[in-house]
Amino acid sequence: MSEASDLNEILALEGLSNGRLDRNIFHHPGIYEREMKNIFARCWLFLAHESQVPEPGRFRTTLMGQDSVVVVRGDDNQIRAFLNTCPHRGNLLVGPQRGRAKSFICPYHRWSFNLAGELTGTHERHAFDCSPDFDPSNFGLVPVAQVDFYKGLVFGTLDPAAPPLKSYLGDFTFLLDAILDNDPGGTEFIPMPVRSVIKCNWKEGALNFVGDALHAQPTHVAGARAMMRRQVPQLGGQDNPSYQAMANGHGWEWSERYPLGGAATLNSPAVLQYLKEHQKQFEERLGPERSKMVAAISSANIFPNFSFAPGINTFRVWHPRGPGITMLETFILVNRNAPPEVKAAWRRGNQRTFSPTGAFEPDDVSLFQGVTRSHQGRATRSHRLYCGLGSRERVAHPAFPESLRITEGQISDANTRGYLEHYSQLMTAPSPPKDARDHAAGDAE
Ligand code: FES
Ligand code: FE
Repeated sequence: MSEASDLNEILALEGLSNGRLDRNIFHHPGIYEREMKNIFARCWLFLAHESQVPEPGRFRTTLMGQDSVVVVRGDDNQIRAFLNTCPHRGNLLVGPQRGRAKSFICPYHRWSFNLAGELTGTHERHAFDCSPDFDPSNFGLVPVAQVDFYKGLVFGTLDPAAPPLKSYLGDFTFLLDAILDNDPGGTEFIPMPVRSVIKCNWKEGALNFVGDALHAQPTHVAGARAMMRRQVPQLGGQDNPSYQAMANGHGWEWSERYPLGGAATLNSPAVLQYLKEHQKQFEERLGPERSKMVAAISSANIFPNFSFAPGINTFRVWHPRGPGITMLETFILVNRNAPPEVKAAWRRGNQRTFSPTGAFEPDDVSLFQGVTRSHQGRATRSHRLYCGLGSRERVAHPAFPESLRITEGQISDANTRGYLEHYSQLMTAPSPPKDARDHAAGDAE
């Protein structure tokens, strides 16, 4: 049997309808390679918040799968993204994670590029005099195929044939507005970007946020005691309406009973006061149902690897760096008009909870790493996992768009299965047309 058919057999995810999951999707190098081609070279991926490149010349570097990318605001105020590689001999063009530049100059042979990505000069201009055919316009930076925006968030795709961002996000934007559009001033990311390396598969993080509220109580019991001086609330029960919503592989799970639950976890009176004072405004802008989602105990993931927890307002990208290595990049979202002391309180709260030295993050990280270690065992890998909790029945929720698949209960794997079904569809889809593939993944394809 060929490796391709082996992989297809794994990726068909036979048994998922019964809640059984093949562990190889977290381990197999061939699966990882296909993820780079079928997911990271084709999906819309988070690149930046507009506030991270607030004026001309400000840039940040990030990853789209294995591809390093620089996101920069140009002199014309337009935000663009380029592959972060010099077209001369391929040196990594921009080293820092963020900064300000008038132009980008490659340190290897000093080719220079303006903020629109055009080759504007070389250190030894006369070097080209003996190459009369050399046309600088053929040696600009390679742009990310499409860049688009949703309420402050900047996304890009390496696939020129990808459907527009609007259809990629679909009606999930209705939920996203709960955190991106609850205030007329919009949002921003405040400085505390942290990058850390975790020895786990990137999907562990995405699946944890798409719908694994079940882990919160057992995993975070000690952290909750330290931070809140109480237990993580018990999930489930008649008096605790909770839901999971899924659209196009994007998922959000939340509980109605703790409208300030996520924020309360920060243990910050300033944040709680701000949210209480603005509750009426949230209701006016979002309606009664979505206003409860602004700061509920909840978590979400935009397919494939962009997660957040409303209330706590940690945003994070699980960058794949190999089948068993993830680079986690974290940010904090706040309303731009929030008072400085409230923003500072949100930052402190995140440092105390969802940072490498916080009360919660190390708990999750050690479990993600333990899971990944266990999948390395050859005999262990032949035993499937279980993700069959909860009803697959969709419930009608009059407050939400018909296209969102809403299911009841946080003690449920409905969103996990929804994410994996979407993943499986993309991973077994036919290859894109050759021209798209060339642009997305280069000549090596
Ligand atoms: Fe960049 Fe040569 S590799 S100038
Ligand atoms: Fe957790």
